[in-house]
Amino acid sequence: MKTMNAPTDDIYRVAPDGSMQLAGHAVSDLLEKFGSPLIVMIEDLIRQNCRAYRQKFDDYPESRIYYASKAFLTTGFCRLIEQEGLGLDVASAGELATALAAGFNPENIIMHGNAKTLQDLRLALESGIGRIVIDNSAEIESLNDLAGLLDCRPRVLIRVTPGIKPSTHEYVQTGQVDSKFGFNLEGGAAAEAVKRVVAKSNLKLVGLHCHIGSQIFALKPFQVAARTMLEFYARACNDLGAQFSELNMGGGLGINYTPGDHPPAIGDHVAGLSRAVLAAAREFGIAPPILCDEPGRSIVGRAGVTLYTVQSTKKIEGIRNYASVDGGMTDNPRYALYQAKHQVVAAKRLNEPVDTVWSISGRCCESGDMLARDVDLPNLKAGDILAVLSTGAYTYSMASNYNRVARPAVVLATPGMVELLARRETDQDLNRLDQIPTWLAQIGKP
Ligand SMILES: Cc1ncc(COP(=O)(O)O)c(C=O)c1O
Repeated sequence: MKTMNAPTDDIYRVAPDGSMQLAGHAVSDLLEKFGSPLIVMIEDLIRQNCRAYRQKFDDYPESRIYYASKAFLTTGFCRLIEQEGLGLDVASAGELATALAAGFNPENIIMHGNAKTLQDLRLALESGIGRIVIDNSAEIESLNDLAGLLDCRPRVLIRVTPGIKPSTHEYVQTGQVDSKFGFNLEGGAAAEAVKRVVAKSNLKLVGLHCHIGSQIFALKPFQVAARTMLEFYARACNDLGAQFSELNMGGGLGINYTPGDHPPAIGDHVAGLSRAVLAAAREFGIAPPILCDEPGRSIVGRAGVTLYTVQSTKKIEGIRNYASVDGGMTDNPRYALYQAKHQVVAAKRLNEPVDTVWSISGRCCESGDMLARDVDLPNLKAGDILAVLSTGAYTYSMASNYNRVARPAVVLATPGMVELLARRETDQDLNRLDQIPTWLAQIGKP
């Protein structure tokens, strides 16, 4: 029998009565004040991660970090990111509008997307966005035309697919040859794109971008990708007429979701990456580019904890024990999408032995609505509080209203203070887009 239910990570404190504390706040106080389920973002850890990226990059001649807002984004969160001196990576007009609503300096925003609409591009140009990453052939034309129409000359990067295949879940590999993103190096599409963009009078080509995948634990693939990109960067400058100054390596560092995960520290990753870029710049005889990165998960992933209340339990003798909670795939679709693992603990019983194996199911009418399978916990009962750890990235930002389940509140917690980043949705919120066609306006039978 395993002895303890407590998380081993020192970012989660355990009070003498066995209750979890997040940034010094007891989970029961948080739930009493904000309701269940609740996503708690630990501010200190987010700031620490931002600084780890920036400090190590300080060893490199010039660098920029853009936080990948797809991981988690609210207006308040934009303020925190800007305070930490990071730029923002957005992938839609919606993410951009959120940043603008927060007052984020558009000059420090970079826009991505493999299917940017004219609405996305128009908002980007009209807001004076710092950079746009061109992802495909059609976009070269549409962006050049729109820039001409709006009388501006945006700085652009070209997204290159360098053909690196890091070992991670296949759904989050994006740098390999078979990818919907970017121009492949192999076959010459990337070189062709450089030539075409250089020839466009309304586009200012400043650099190259790649993103080789997400939740990557090995440092080598980033370093191999950096060398591959620098080789092409040098060729584009020497032979294809480009005048680059920036290389964006696109984030992707992994985090620990369970005690068995051992990702590299942020500092080791950025030190290794900057060394690899410097070495490759020397090898290919070019000045070191402005080195940019776009981390998302490694900034916010571990800083998030979702608190749920167990609503019911079901034990199927010899098969499985289910504990169903008041949230699930609607606030965290990661298990449903990728069978992703999270550590789960009974947040008020951390001193108790873990003697039962539980699968944690969500509340939706969908068998695939699970949060975790076969985790060791104490013998659970309705009313117990579960904490699912490392839920800061790609959970709330991927949330849905399936079954018209309201999205939970999100709070930012720091010692002595806790406030909302997003309030809980209400029934009115859930109905806000609905319209009743005129011929159905009458209540009851016609
Ligand atoms: C273009 C781009 N940049 C940055 C990221 C952030 O990746 P991560 O959250 O793994 O750091 C992603 C994630 O999919 C991405 O597609």
